[in-house]
Amino acid sequence: MAFGFCLGVTLLLSVWATAKCDNIPNGALHMECRDRYFMIAVDLSFTGNNPHFEAVDGTGVYVITKQYAAQCGYSVSLVPSLGRLELRASYFSCHTDNKDDEVFTFNFNLIAIHEGTEDSYALNQTCSPSLPWSHREITCEENYMEVSVRSDVACPTGTKKDDWDAVVQTAYTSAASDWQVMFQRIDEEPTPVSLNEAHDQGYEFDLTDGRLVFRTPYGQPDSFSTEVNGVPVEAVHATLFSKQSWVVLMVNLVAACSMHEGSYDGGYMMWETPEALHPLLSGLHETQVNIGVNGELVAQPVAEERGYIVEKHNTTVEISIPYNAEGGYRKSIVSGDLHEFYIFDLYLEQISVDEDQVHTRLRFHRTLATPLLSRPVFTENRTVLEERMFTAYLGDVPEDVELAAVHLNGMEFSVPFTNTSSHNISKVVHPNNTLGYTLKVPFDDPVVVQQFSKEDAAMQHTLDINYTLTVLPENEPFYHLTSVMAFTDASPPAFAAVCTESGIIFKLDHRPFDYLWDIGIGSDLLTPELAAQHGYIMSNDSQSLLLEVPLFSHSYEYKDVTLKGFFGTFEILMRDHETSEVQSSTIKTCPFSTTELIMCSTDGKMTVVADLSLAISSGGVPARTNLADKYCGPKETDGTRALFSFPLNSCGSTIKLGKEHVSYENEILFSKKLHALKNPGDSGNDIDRVTMKCTYALGGLFRLFSVYRFESDTPGVGLIVHSAKSTEGVQSPTIEPTTVSTARRTRRPFSVRPGYRPPAQYIKVQSILKNISKKGAIGSSQVNVTPY
Ligand SMILES: *[C@@H]1O[C@H](CO)[C@@H](O)[C@H](O)[C@H]1NC(C)=O
Ligand SMILES: *[C@@H]1O[C@H](CO)[C@@H](O)[C@H](O)[C@H]1NC(C)=O
Ligand SMILES: *[C@@H]1O[C@H](CO)[C@@H](O)[C@H](O)[C@H]1NC(C)=O
Ligand SMILES: *[C@@H]1O[C@H](CO)[C@@H](O)[C@H](O)[C@H]1NC(C)=O
Ligand SMILES: *[C@@H]1O[C@H](CO)[C@@H](O)[C@H](O)[C@H]1NC(C)=O
Ligand SMILES: *[C@@H]1O[C@H](CO)[C@@H](O)[C@H](O)[C@H]1NC(C)=O
Ligand SMILES: *[C@@H]1O[C@H](CO)[C@@H](O)[C@H](O)[C@H]1NC(C)=O
Ligand SMILES: *[C@@H]1O[C@H](CO)[C@@H](O)[C@H](O)[C@H]1NC(C)=O
Repeated sequence: MAFGFCLGVTLLLSVWATAKCDNIPNGALHMECRDRYFMIAVDLSFTGNNPHFEAVDGTGVYVITKQYAAQCGYSVSLVPSLGRLELRASYFSCHTDNKDDEVFTFNFNLIAIHEGTEDSYALNQTCSPSLPWSHREITCEENYMEVSVRSDVACPTGTKKDDWDAVVQTAYTSAASDWQVMFQRIDEEPTPVSLNEAHDQGYEFDLTDGRLVFRTPYGQPDSFSTEVNGVPVEAVHATLFSKQSWVVLMVNLVAACSMHEGSYDGGYMMWETPEALHPLLSGLHETQVNIGVNGELVAQPVAEERGYIVEKHNTTVEISIPYNAEGGYRKSIVSGDLHEFYIFDLYLEQISVDEDQVHTRLRFHRTLATPLLSRPVFTENRTVLEERMFTAYLGDVPEDVELAAVHLNGMEFSVPFTNTSSHNISKVVHPNNTLGYTLKVPFDDPVVVQQFSKEDAAMQHTLDINYTLTVLPENEPFYHLTSVMAFTDASPPAFAAVCTESGIIFKLDHRPFDYLWDIGIGSDLLTPELAAQHGYIMSNDSQSLLLEVPLFSHSYEYKDVTLKGFFGTFEILMRDHETSEVQSSTIKTCPFSTTELIMCSTDGKMTVVADLSLAISSGGVPARTNLADKYCGPKETDGTRALFSFPLNSCGSTIKLGKEHVSYENEILFSKKLHALKNPGDSGNDIDRVTMKCTYALGGLFRLFSVYRFESDTPGVGLIVHSAKSTEGVQSPTIEPTTVSTARRTRRPFSVRPGYRPPAQYIKVQSILKNISKKGAIGSSQVNVTPY
């Protein structure tokens, strides 16, 4: 084998590293037989960052360096989309064992770096290409050009007569009996060199069982760059010759490849190659182009589906690949804002047949890339006011970008959120490989800025969001800002109220902005102290305020008093916190009933419901009762009770003027006639006597002596006393009217004589505040019966 010499070149033998191949994890190593090369790929996650390969054959171990790879038919490249390092070894590469151009075996070492130490894995792969060899095959690899021709059709055709003569001339004159090579260059006399010299210059020649192989790195001194139809082409034209006795054998080998850099236009990455790369390869017709990606052709329908386009313009083949076509690789990059680029490892096969039925197969490995394309993320306001929370959607986030943190109104929260119960963020992955993040922050969250607008009775909630996104794996950050705003109704709070038998219960669920209002009872602010003072039962926690207002406690209003019952009304005011202006109120009116009642109104009226059952038992009839003035009868009676309502200073009332108080007293009298009939000879000694008294503080009276009108600041304090005639002399304690004006309204039981069991024990009196309409404001008494 005349061209076996290339193996004889002495190369530095690398030291055998400890070989181990047993512990490559499953899936970390990929080996495939492709049409014209071994494909070996290793996962970078297994090999560490700087793995390398060594080719191994009977003569030694050869480190595949960049330069060595280009000369010997190896191509090492990173496949970022898969996180792999890929080694493509031509079947004609220097250290591949070749059996009849049919069975190829490649022995190699993979050197991986694990924790600083190099581990070597001895590996091998054997391939038998299923695709038969064409007459002529040209491979335009990333780093070299390789041409192989069948040795029986190496006779060149199509060479211009003059060139051919010139070459033959030189061959005859200079060739020794050994093979020589001349590199043809435009406008330069070729000088023959020995194959050894050619090898030293980086060229490889080999004669296999049936093929002549020539390989050259790009950019060799003997390569020439031309343009064919405006497309840059690099070519190396080698003419091999050997003079044996009277015969000169001569072989033309042309390696030519399109060096088009690719372009980007209208969403397509484009690449061009002339149909005929070199005059020696011209006269081709019936060109067929197949397209593929990552070193593998795809079927025509698949290519069409992916949008790969092959077009011929004049004699130029133009390839267009959609920028985001399947099979490509995309990467985000921060350049001010977010950008991206796409890389497509184009694999192209061009098959042509010339006049002599010589088949030529050209293969290109070319990397196409887009320029930096803007890739904005977007935010959308998906807030639904009714939910009372902000919903902000961040969309079109590429897969290799991660949301690292958000600043909410300047406060940083790393993502995913921890320790926050109220706001959260969720991620969605869309079928188009984009991510979306939904951020939810309740309007009332402490991070939300709230601003109250009195005019609109609305609360403005504002949330400035600053998303921190990082591009992986570099962790390069960029920011995306948005701001959302919402207005919510901010009307004053309103209590819910329910009636009970003994009072009214008010309930208020706290809202975060309720601090804008003060809760008032009359002119006072509702405080725990005030509640205690007035006998309200108040409980207040973070959730709600509960206020129980017992009947007859301070600030009630009463109306429609009948024997059946009456209505009690209680009002809670909402005042503006700043101006104290009343903004709204909750008023609740409830029906109540009670056995006895006395009310001393501010406009000078006494209303009394008296229980006369004791009198009845001794023969009295409520309907036949009257006041001190016998012409003043009851307004309403039933079996046991009577209702009187009369101006204080009428119906025979006794008026007592003290230093500080004035009191009006009257009495319910029974018809003596009737009574005497029933109980002759015992005129009244044990008859129940019912007296009623209204006491007013003088300080609160405006027109005591007015004939026409009585007007009091506060209602009077009422008192009903039941007593037997015989006990008339006994002083019944009364509530000091001062308790009204000093607002000390604690319950005070009457002290009564032992053995005596009165139906009424104590009377509770409340006054109604000045600023509530004086008209109709009434005092009241509650008569409770409690057992001794
Ligand atoms: C090729 O590798 C296999 C294991 O992967 C091994 O059994 C075989 O001996 C190797 N062959 C050569 C020629 O190294
Ligand atoms: C095709 O070739 C013709 C003639 O050579 C030339 O005029 C025309 O500009 C070419 N078109 C393109 C797209 O290159
Ligand atoms: C989260 O909450 C836990 C327990 O409540 C606490 O120990 C931890 O420090 C909190 N972490 C942060 C970041 O606030
Ligand atoms: C996110 O927050 C909302 C309201 O705060 C809540 O309804 C939802 O369940 C939360 N989701 C997760 C995943 O915590
Ligand atoms: C991806 O899909 C989502 C959801 O269908 C859509 O909102 C988004 O606009 C799409 N993005 C791109 C870049 O097509
Ligand atoms: C967004 O957050 C980043 C990181 O904290 C900060 O550098 C940047 O200034 C913020 N942008 C604005 C507009 O606040
Ligand atoms: C966001 O959505 C809410 C609710 O639909 C709306 O009130 C508000 O005006 C929108 N715009 C901004 C900038 O927040
Ligand atoms: C009830 O409690 C809340 C806090 O839990 C407080 O803001 C509010 O002032 C309290 N209200 C009253 C009337 O004490």
